Amino acid sequence: MNPTTTAVPLAAGLPTTFQWGVATSAYQIEGAATEDGRTPSIWDTFCRKPGAVHDADNGDVACDHYHRMPQDVALIKSLGVDSYRFSIAWPRVQPGGRGPANPAGLAFYDRLVDELLANGIDPWVTLYHWDLPQELEDAGGWPARDTAYRFADYAAIVFDKLQDRVATFTTLNEPWCSAWLGYHVGVHAPGRQNFDDSLHAVHHLLLGHGLATQRMRALETRPHTYGITLNMGTADPLTDSPEDREAARRADGMGLRIYLDPLRHGRYPADMVADLAARGSAFPVRDGDLAIISEPFDVLGVNFYFGQDFAGTDESGNTHDGSGAPVVRAVLPDTPRTAMDWPITPARFTQLLVRLHRDYPGMPLVVTENGAAFDDNPDASGYVADDERTAYLSSHIAAVAEARAQGADVRGYFAWSLMDNFEWAEGYAKRFGIVHVDYRTQTRTPKQSALWYRDSIAHTRSAR
Ligand code: NOJ
Repeated sequence: MNPTTTAVPLAAGLPTTFQWGVATSAYQIEGAATEDGRTPSIWDTFCRKPGAVHDADNGDVACDHYHRMPQDVALIKSLGVDSYRFSIAWPRVQPGGRGPANPAGLAFYDRLVDELLANGIDPWVTLYHWDLPQELEDAGGWPARDTAYRFADYAAIVFDKLQDRVATFTTLNEPWCSAWLGYHVGVHAPGRQNFDDSLHAVHHLLLGHGLATQRMRALETRPHTYGITLNMGTADPLTDSPEDREAARRADGMGLRIYLDPLRHGRYPADMVADLAARGSAFPVRDGDLAIISEPFDVLGVNFYFGQDFAGTDESGNTHDGSGAPVVRAVLPDTPRTAMDWPITPARFTQLLVRLHRDYPGMPLVVTENGAAFDDNPDASGYVADDERTAYLSSHIAAVAEARAQGADVRGYFAWSLMDNFEWAEGYAKRFGIVHVDYRTQTRTPKQSALWYRDSIAHTRSAR
């Protein structure tokens, strides 16, 4: 084992049984956008919209993982992780989003799963990491109820093929991003900007999760672990003023509770329903939907990057904006930032995990993403001495250990990301990988953080 060069201590305080992994998603790494019957997703379309993505980048080639999969699995193995979290591209396995499976597309994931298992790596499947088939968007996208049923059909296709070898299936990755960034803010695909559409998308994403989970359970020939991954920051009031506490309540409601309350308690939070009604909006709930959405699941995937404070006044002290809506202003804590300009807030990670354990008890947690982009400077050999990323990972893994010490049932941690990849609207400019990718040559070079991660995993496994 090569020594790591960092002064950052190896991770400690986690049990030998703790599950370690690395994560990626299909559109961000695969490339091969038109091969073997794959049809366009909303991200293929969005990337071609002028100004939508930094430098007009797209996922046509990305990390060319589709053609380099065996080498990438060898790379994962070299890190000594237990598990690999990846997503399946819906438009690859069910082109157009409806109808029969595409055998050539499914075959890729079949080979990937076999390759992982042959190398002793547990495959963690995410069914939907944002690449909706464009045809389904043309038919209304997630704001349309039918998309939830199409998603359940697609889930059944994947499950039928892989359930004999894959133990863990998670449905959605970060539905907040799909609904809010995709349909309200418009900075993610499909780039629509309509508040009510985004609320409808929330409901239909959650309905799709429930329907898919039910379908997979009905098809299973052996027990599986089912889950969903949510992105969750923390929303603290900037001060103790009533306005700031009110803003934090609203931010926490829209960011976390409108997902977890229906999933775990079978109802949307009453305060959020009332807030929405006050602006003439509502979730499009039909009889029976909430029973489907609250179908039990086994693990909650937690993606954490940073926490924020919220103020209920704008910079001039107004509590309402020009349209009469209450001000909910995010204020970034005064800490060092990553290249995404995201504050580095490990203590809030502990706070979040402990809060999830308290407010939604009986739900095992796995950190399905955590990591950071920094402006890497590779040396002539491609090696990156990424002290800042190493320190970020170290402090956040320590935050997980602290949350466990405070009682949170956190069972695993996946670093985001295995390798540099297509960072959505930021294109290739932002690098989250613990492995450096030279996009000209597709050379992969483990960064210091990867070596540190590898050594930390070995260290916790051998700790007594
Ligand atoms: C969460 C998303 O799931 C992932 O696709 C993205 O690259 C990371 N956050 C970093 O922004």
